[in-house]
Amino acid sequence: MAYKIEKAEMIAENIFEFWINAPHVAKNARAGQFLVIRINDKGERIPLTVSGVDGDLVRIVFMKVGKTTMFLSTLGEGDFIEDVAGPLGHPSEIKDWGRCVVIGGGVGIACLPILAKALKESGNEITGIIGARNKSLLLLKDELASHCDELVVCTDDGSFGYHGFPVDILKKKLEEGVVDCVWIIGPAIMMKITSLATVPYNVRTFVSLNPIMVDGTGMCGSCRVTIDGETKFACVDGPEFEAASVDWNELMTRQRTYTEEELKARELFEDHTCECGGH
Ligand SMILES: Cc1cc2nc3c(=O)[nH]c(=O)nc-3n(C[C@H](O)[C@H](O)[C@H](O)COP(=O)(O)OP(=O)(O)OC[C@H]3O[C@@H](n4cnc5c(N)ncnc54)[C@H](O)[C@@H]3O)c2cc1C
Ligand code: FES
Repeated sequence: MAYKIEKAEMIAENIFEFWINAPHVAKNARAGQFLVIRINDKGERIPLTVSGVDGDLVRIVFMKVGKTTMFLSTLGEGDFIEDVAGPLGHPSEIKDWGRCVVIGGGVGIACLPILAKALKESGNEITGIIGARNKSLLLLKDELASHCDELVVCTDDGSFGYHGFPVDILKKKLEEGVVDCVWIIGPAIMMKITSLATVPYNVRTFVSLNPIMVDGTGMCGSCRVTIDGETKFACVDGPEFEAASVDWNELMTRQRTYTEEELKARELFEDHTCECGGH
């Protein structure tokens, strides 16, 4: 069975939003979960976060970074994706926590609207903090604002909103004593540094380890991570974990392992663009 792309749009620099008709995923998907897509029968499987649900449609948001996302970005409205499996992974722990802060960095921002909406519906007060390198990389700002009591936008270069990192805003909120629970979703370095800020305040802090996944099925072993001294798989046991339990140094070393291979695959794809997806 193939899955139709009903809406496709570039929503920020090199960042694309697709709404895919996948009723079986849309019906069951909850905040924090992901799906695995395969563009065609020769393509590789990649995990992407469920960023939104609307009736039978499920939203993915992806940045054109490697071979598969580059091929994906060439598709548009009316095109089909061969496989869409999901929802996968454990959902976020949604309950009445009190005052929640949801923080997104880069493409990780795409995961926040569905999370903020679910937390809001459970009676929480929500502060959103999002950060991107510059204005052109900000995404889903207005949609997220509609689910938050307050939204603070940060850019590294000061081209929009607060000039600096989301962690600076979080620190102020923590000092004011107005935070009961925190979610941080973004690049590993951002999640590590931002989560360190909550440690002295003993505030529950969740991070989502999607960036270290490769196939998302528990088979490749690339998402192995040490949590409180125990080996876990981000795709099977996560993707969300308590930040203080994560061995960040090991995680970031493992992430670097694939950088060279990904670059090579991307170069090959660029030299050989056809419907087989670079294979
Ligand atoms: C749960 C999860 C799901 C994801 N799902 C998808 C997906 O579905 N599709 C997809 O394409 N990608 C997804 N990603 C993102 C993917 O991992 C990107 O490679 C990653 O977000 C890098 O994006 P970027 O280059 O825009 O980040 P950067 O531009 O490097 O960083 C983004 C922001 O993080 C903050 N930051 C960065 N470095 C620091 C630092 N040293 N200290 C403090 N703050 C810092 C800054 O505010 C910065 O603007 C997901 C990521 C996560 C965590
Ligand atoms: S992503 Fe391959 S085992 Fe988890």
